[in-house]
Amino acid sequence: MKTLGQFIIEKQADFPYAKGELSRLLRDIGIAAKIVNREINKAGLTDKLGEVGEINVQGEAQKIMDVYANEQFISALSSGGECCLVASEENEEIVLLNKLVSKNAKYAVAIDPLDGSSNIDVNVAVGTTFSIYRRKSKDGPGQLEDILQKGTEQVAAGYIIYGSSTMLVYTTGKGVNGFTLDPSIGEFCLSHPNIKMPETGYIYSMNEGNYVHFPEGVKKYIKYCQVEDDATSRPYTSRYIGSMVADLHRNLIKGGIYIYPTTASAPNGKLRLVYECNPLAFIIEQAGGRATNGYDRILDIEVTEIHQRESIFIGSTKMVLKAEEFMAEYS
Ligand code: AHG
Ligand code: MN
Ligand code: MN
Ligand code: MN
Repeated sequence: MKTLGQFIIEKQADFPYAKGELSRLLRDIGIAAKIVNREINKAGLTDKLGEVGEINVQGEAQKIMDVYANEQFISALSSGGECCLVASEENEEIVLLNKLVSKNAKYAVAIDPLDGSSNIDVNVAVGTTFSIYRRKSKDGPGQLEDILQKGTEQVAAGYIIYGSSTMLVYTTGKGVNGFTLDPSIGEFCLSHPNIKMPETGYIYSMNEGNYVHFPEGVKKYIKYCQVEDDATSRPYTSRYIGSMVADLHRNLIKGGIYIYPTTASAPNGKLRLVYECNPLAFIIEQAGGRATNGYDRILDIEVTEIHQRESIFIGSTKMVLKAEEFMAEYS
C-alpha cells in the first residue's frame, strides 16, 4: 500500500528543478482535506449544517461548511509557507499569505473549498477543487497576476470527493492518480493509479430543468442523447448529482459527458473558470478526455477575473466532440 505522502515524494523526481515545495503544498492540501472530511462526516451532529446568514460574492447564501472548509484550506496553505496567495470562491478578493516569507512562497492556489454545497444538508456527495500555479511576481506579497493565468499554466490540480468514500484525485501533468482515504489509519492510499477515462460512454449530466434556457445546440444534443440507436447504446442514461466534482468523478470512471451551458440566469455559464473549470479540465484532459466551452478549449481561455464564469462541455472525448458538432451547427 502506498500513501499519498510516499507517492508525492517518489514523483518529485519528475520535476528535476523542484526542491520539494510543490510536494509540501500538495501534502498541506491533503491535510486540510482530512480535517474537512472529518467535519463533513459528522456535520449533522456538530451544528455544521445550514447557512451562516451571509451572501458571498457569487450571490449565494454561504453554508456553514463553505466557510469552515475555506478556513481550513487557507489555514493549511498559510502555515505550510509554500503559497503566496489563495483565490477562493468564498472570498471576493485574493487572500495574501506569508507576506513575511513570500520569497519562499513560490505558488499561488485557487480553490473551491466546498463544491456542491447545496447538497451538504441532504447527505449527498460534495467536493473540493484546487489549482496550483507558479507565481509570476518575483518576491514581495503575491499579486493578482500570480493567479490570473491560463489553465495551461497549472502546475498541478485536483479534487477531493467526500462521497461514499473520500478520495483525492490529482495531476501534475503526468497522468492522473486517485487516492482513497482509509479512515482507520487516516491516510490517503493509492487506489486508482494512472486513471484513463473511457473514450466514450452512455451517461449525460446536465441540469435539464434549465432546458428552455439552453442554447439550441445543447437542446438538439439532448434530443440526440435520447434517441434509440443500438450502435451507440442510445438512449443514454441521465445522471445529475448537482455537485460538479461528483458528476465528473462518476464520468471519469464510467465515461460520460457533463455540460453546464449558458442559461438565461447565467449568460456566461454558471461555473467559475479559475477554481472549478480549469482544475477539472486539466484532470479530464490528463485522463484522455476533453473540456471545452462548446467551441474552444477551456485551458486556453484568457483569465481576467478570479470569479469569471464560463460554460463547460467536459468528459469523454467522443461525446464532447459530438456535442460540439451540435453547437457548431445550431448555436
Ligand atoms: P458550489 O457549491 O461550489 O457553489 O458549486 C455549485 C455548482 C456545481 O457544483 C454544480 O454542478 C452546479 O453548481 C449545480 O448548479 P445547478 O444547481 O444550477 O444545477
Ligand atoms: Mn457556492
Ligand atoms: Mn463549486
Ligand atoms: Mn463551493
